[in-house]
Amino acid sequence: MNIQDMKKQFVKDLGQTGSQKDLEVLRVKYLGKKSEIYSSLRSLGQLDHEERKVMGAALNQLRGEIEAGLKSQEYELAQKEQTVLDFSEPGKKFEIGHKHPITQVYEELFEIAKTLGFSIADGPEVESDWYNFEALNMPKDHPARDTQDSFYIDESTVLRTQTSPVQIRYMEKHKPPIRIVVPGRTYRRDNDMTHTPMFHQLEGLLVDDRVTLADLKGVLTVFAKGIFGQDRKVRFRPHHFPFTEPSIEADVSCGLCGGKGCRSCKYSGWLEILGAGMVHPNVLKNVGLDFKKYQGFAFGMGVDRITMLKFDIDDTRMFFDNDLRFLEQF
Ligand code: DAH
Repeated sequence: MNIQDMKKQFVKDLGQTGSQKDLEVLRVKYLGKKSEIYSSLRSLGQLDHEERKVMGAALNQLRGEIEAGLKSQEYELAQKEQTVLDFSEPGKKFEIGHKHPITQVYEELFEIAKTLGFSIADGPEVESDWYNFEALNMPKDHPARDTQDSFYIDESTVLRTQTSPVQIRYMEKHKPPIRIVVPGRTYRRDNDMTHTPMFHQLEGLLVDDRVTLADLKGVLTVFAKGIFGQDRKVRFRPHHFPFTEPSIEADVSCGLCGGKGCRSCKYSGWLEILGAGMVHPNVLKNVGLDFKKYQGFAFGMGVDRITMLKFDIDDTRMFFDNDLRFLEQF
């Protein structure tokens, strides 16, 4: 290859280098022991005097140009790496995660439960017909058993529609006194502004001798005021659940209007927060407890609903969209 061609080839090769490593390859190719320039320089001795002078000068010039070219490209590449690694740039901000609003409310509920001496229990989300319904005194024709409301796995297995079956499981294994709360996911075939197919409940169960409805009302008042604020009023209304007798529902006074009535409380001044009652004798019978000796109370609340009421959220589906613009507000 003549000197002009070699120079052209070098300029072309140099233009394609992208790293210091590429440059090292080029240096070996053009200036190394196996390079054409090296061997040409070594064989200069075979030429006659005039030729040697001309050829020697040209080769040395080429070598000088190649060295200069490598050096300036090395500088160029270093400059580029500098712009990628700009040490004067502000550091990347680490976003700190935080607890989901539903988790926050659960933790508040656990705190209140703890001060009242309750411990935490749990149970399976895939539940048998017996535990989810039958043992809770929910006869076969009860509307909640309709396939419209429940997700059936097979004829006798459902995704639990409530945390109440854990009452049965717990009472089978433990003797009174019993004092538990049961957090957990529950499932129903519902999907609108105020219902998602999966939602969260907190169940409560207390079984002992000499337990009365007055004890239940006291405990529920502590929970309601603990979650919504000591200034809120609590009231109880008679209701019906198959697994409690008598049954009640609890309301807190509306925090937005102070009980006067507004859109949020549908102009009633009250917000319904939970269902409760005295454990039905049939339920105690189903776990082999002597219902003449023992009584108990139970309650169940929708934690998503309570979180919505507490933070004035009107669409429950937002809890599960994972939109940070929503979640970061709590
Ligand atoms: N399990 C009921 C439901 O899902 C809520 C409930 C009401 C639970 C009364 C209870 C209770 O333990 O005593 O609607």
